[in-house]
Amino acid sequence: LRHLLTTEGLPRDVLLHILDTAQGFVSFGDREVKKVPLLRGKSVFNLFFENSTRTRTTFEIAAQRLSADVFNLDIQRSSTSKGESLLDTIANLEAMDADIFVVRHAQSGAPYLIAQHVPPHVHVVNAGDGRHAHPTQGLLDMTTIRHYKPDFSALTVAIVGDIVHSRVARSAIHALTTLGVPEVRAVGPKTLVPGDMRPMGVRVCHDIREGLQGADVVMMLRLQNERMSGGLLPSASEFHMMYGLTPERLALAKPDAIVMHPGPINRGVEIDSSVADGAQSVILPQVRFGIAVRMAVLSIIANANA
Ligand code: CP
Repeated sequence: LRHLLTTEGLPRDVLLHILDTAQGFVSFGDREVKKVPLLRGKSVFNLFFENSTRTRTTFEIAAQRLSADVFNLDIQRSSTSKGESLLDTIANLEAMDADIFVVRHAQSGAPYLIAQHVPPHVHVVNAGDGRHAHPTQGLLDMTTIRHYKPDFSALTVAIVGDIVHSRVARSAIHALTTLGVPEVRAVGPKTLVPGDMRPMGVRVCHDIREGLQGADVVMMLRLQNERMSGGLLPSASEFHMMYGLTPERLALAKPDAIVMHPGPINRGVEIDSSVADGAQSVILPQVRFGIAVRMAVLSIIANANA
C-alpha cells in the first residue's frame, strides 16, 4: 500500500492487515503503547486545508508515537493565501524532504492529484476530501466495531443522517461491505440519502423506526451544512424531530447496540446528550482508536518501499 486514498476497492486482506496492525498499537485501560522507532528519520507533513480537531491531532500523535518528525502547515498563514497552487506548495514541501503528506481538502480528489505528482518515495494519506472519502475514519470505525462486536458477519449497521454529503458514510459503507456485514442501512430523509444505494450493498430506510429496528451498531452523522446548497433540506429542529437519536428511538435497536458518531456532534440535533454521553455510546473510544489506526496506516505505507 503506497498511498491510502479511499476504502473503496481496498482488498479485504489489506483492510484486515491494517486492522490487525492497529490492534497492536491500541492503548486501553492499563495497556500503554510506548513510543516505537518505526518512522524514525521520516517527515510527516499535516496539510489541513479544512478544519479538524480529531483527525489532525490524532495523526500528529500517531506520527510522534512512531518517532517521525511532524510538521503541521498552518494553511491560514501559508502562501496559499498569496495564490500559490496546491502542487507548487507540495513541490516546495518535497524540497524540505517530506516523506508523507496527510491531506484534508474541501475539494474531492485533491489528495489524488497530489498522489499523481509526488515521486515514488513519497506517500499520501487522505484525511478527508470533500464529500468523497475519509478512509482513516472508516478504518477507525471498523476497529471500534470489531472491538465491541467481533463478528462482522452477524451485524446490522444503521447509518443515520446526512449520508449524501458524508465522506464518513461512504468510507464506512465500503469497509463494512468488504468485511462482509450482511445488513447495512442508510437512514434519513430523501433529501439526504441517495435514492438507490443497492449497488453499494446498502438498504435505504426513510423511516427512522424501520432503520433502527434490531440494529447492532447505530452510526449517527451530523448535518454537513458546509456542503449543502439550499434546496429542500431539513432545519436542525426538523431533523431532530424526524431523525434525532433519542433514548426512545435507541430502544428500537438491540439492547447491547453501540452508538457511534465521527464527531463533531451537534447535541440536540442528530443526537441527544443523554445518548451521546450514555452507556451505549462509544464516541470517545472511536477517537482513541483513531490513534492506533493512524499509527498502523503510517507505518504500513512508510514501509511500502522497504
Ligand atoms: N471525524 C473527523 O473527521 O473529525 P474532525 O473533523 O475533527 O477531524
